[in-house]
Parts: sequence; structure tokens; C-alpha cells
Amino acid sequence: MTTLSIIKADTGGFVGHSAVHPDLLATAQEAARRAVGDGLLLDAHVASCGDDVSLIMTHEHGADSERVHGFAWDTFQETTEVAKRLGLYGAGQDLLSDAFSGNLKGMGPGYAELEFTDRPSEPVICFLADKTEPGAWNLALYKMFADPFNTAGLVIDEKMHAGFRFEVYDLFEEKRITFDCPEELYDMLMFIGAPARYVVHAVESRNLTEQAAATSTQRLSLIAGKYVGKDDPVMIVRCQSGLPAVGEVLEPFSFPYTVGGAMRGSHHAPLLPVSIPDAHTARFDGPPRVVALGFQITDGRLIGPRDMFADPSFDGARQQANTAMDYLRRHGPFEPHRLPLEDLEYTTMRALEARIAQRWQPMPEVATTMAR
Ligand code: F6R
Ligand code: MG
Ligand code: MG
Repeated sequence: MTTLSIIKADTGGFVGHSAVHPDLLATAQEAARRAVGDGLLLDAHVASCGDDVSLIMTHEHGADSERVHGFAWDTFQETTEVAKRLGLYGAGQDLLSDAFSGNLKGMGPGYAELEFTDRPSEPVICFLADKTEPGAWNLALYKMFADPFNTAGLVIDEKMHAGFRFEVYDLFEEKRITFDCPEELYDMLMFIGAPARYVVHAVESRNLTEQAAATSTQRLSLIAGKYVGKDDPVMIVRCQSGLPAVGEVLEPFSFPYTVGGAMRGSHHAPLLPVSIPDAHTARFDGPPRVVALGFQITDGRLIGPRDMFADPSFDGARQQANTAMDYLRRHGPFEPHRLPLEDLEYTTMRALEARIAQRWQPMPEVATTMAR
């Protein structure tokens, strides 16, 4: 069995929350090189999207491995030190705990992990997003694995006819459930259409009984009990031979759908598919963006990456995203650009409510003059 783990954290932004400084990437790359040399990892690739560093790693220790998570934790401590030395913004932002204890659950860094027996050829896409939330993958995963208008294989490939099983987490109640699609599609959409709360955690092929996709499902704001930055998510999707083709996996991003989490974790904005050199934010701390790194995994080696969105066929989506961004921005502090109150992660509203609580009066039976 091979495990593919993506573990990511924001350990300091350059400039503000927009990107990762090259010195942080170099530090993580050096740590990854040592871990491969020591035999802990089979292979590793360091990538970034916005202000988050992602460690993309293959190994044989399974998901939630103390050694692999511990390595990531130590690496993020190292990059934090570099960020502190350079005075980068929010150094160590996502490291919520003082000490590592077994695995990264609840400690701040996000991770998606997928264990599989290597097929003769193993094409995988690693998606990294910035300025959004874990539920941002819901729409894309629904389209990849359940929508025949997106994925022709659901109709044409015999191996895909049985459909896919989705595992969904309720992040508020910390519960999980599985939906077998296509027959439970409508039930599932009721939940995953509310991505701030319900998040697709994994997808499995019902025919092959193979796990096909995994996402990171942490929400830092819930972990920390207050706003501490965005839990910018990552996702792994295996492709081909009874799973969606590479092009079917990329297709959902040709529509720059709106996601939560832009500017101050408090706005909806379109998800912009970008090439790796464009994986940093600018306008209104966004727009939220996604990169896709394609790999062939061969004997645990990560052959790649190929920069999957560096292609003119996504220019239309980028154009549409910029138009949608113009449209949403003109709403300023009004919903639906701004998130609904219950999803606002800053505590400003609670403080404001407390400050003016005494001034609220019952509405009059008949409104006449303005209260003074
Ligand atoms: C960070 C993010 C940004 C920040 C904003 C304010 O991931 O979404 O939009 O929320 O730049 O940051 P602070 O509060 O650090 O000044
Ligand atoms: Mg940041
Ligand atoms: Mg980020």
C-alpha cells in the first residue's frame, strides 16, 4: 500500500496573506529531501498556493501516521522560524498548539490522505486552494463523481455505472454519513449544498471498492474558537481506469463557482483556476484560487508535477471569474458578497451586539415618529 499525504499550513505570508516567500519553500524542500534520504518518505514535492505551504508526500506509513505528521509539524516549525526572521506576516499562524502529540488532528495544519494499492499506472491530481474553506470542493466532487453532464464516464464506462459512495462530514456536530450515488443524490445535495457545514471528506468507487478522492476537512475557526485565518483546503483525486478521466476531474473548474472564505474569511467570491506561477492572491485578498498538480505515481515516486490549469482551455473560466468578481465586489458589505451572519468568522458582530444591546427597543404598534 502507498499513502499519498498532502499536509499544509500557513506559517507566514509574503506580502500580507498573499504568497509564500521563496526561503520558506527552500526550507521545506530541504526538510523533504532529508526525509526522503532517511527513508521516512518514498518521495515528496513542496508546493504552495497563496500563503500556504503544501507538503505532497508518498510513504508506506498509512494515514494519520505519527512519524509523517510529526515530520510535517517539525517542518512547519522550521518554516515558521524562517518567517519570523524575515518578519513575514502571521508567522506560525496555523500552528495552534505548542507541542506535537501523535497526529495533527486539531492542531491547525490541514491534511488530505489517501491510501491505495498502486495500479499499473496511477494518475493523481493534487488540488490546492487558498482563501476558501474545505466545503469548496463539494460542488466539484459532485460534478466529477455524480453528474453525467460533467463526467461522460458515468454513462459510457461500464466500471462507473454503479456510481460512487460519498462520505460527508458535519463539521459543526462532528458526525459523518455516507451517501450512495446516484440513488441518494437528492438527499446528499440537501447537505453538501451547504458547504460551510457539510463537507465531502472522501469518495469511493462502488464497483472497484477503491477510494478515489480525499479532502482536508478541518476548520481552523472551529478548532480555535475564534478567527485565526482560513482553513484553505487541499484535495487528492485519483483518475482513469474506472475512475473519472483527468479531463473529467478538471472539468468542474471550467465554471468558476462561488465559494466562501474570501477577504477576512467573510466573503463569497468566484474560485479562480490558475497555473502554478499565478498561485498567489491580489485583488481583495483574492479571488480565491485553485491550482492542480498532476502526478503519475510510480513505485511511490511522484512523477511530475504537471501544471494542469496552465492551459488556454481555462482562460474562459478565468475571464468569467473576473467578471463575477466585479459583480460581487459592487455589493460591498452587503450579502450575498458578505457571508451570512452565522458564517462570519470575525467576532466583531458579537462585540457590536453587546455594545449596543441596551439601545434596542420594542417596535411600536404603529410607527409614527423616529425614536430619539
Ligand atoms: C487571510 C485572509 C485575509 C485576511 C485579511 C486581514 O487568509 O483571508 O483576507 O483576513 O488580510 O488580515 P489581518 O486580520 O491579519 O490583518
Ligand atoms: Mg496568512
Ligand atoms: Mg491561506
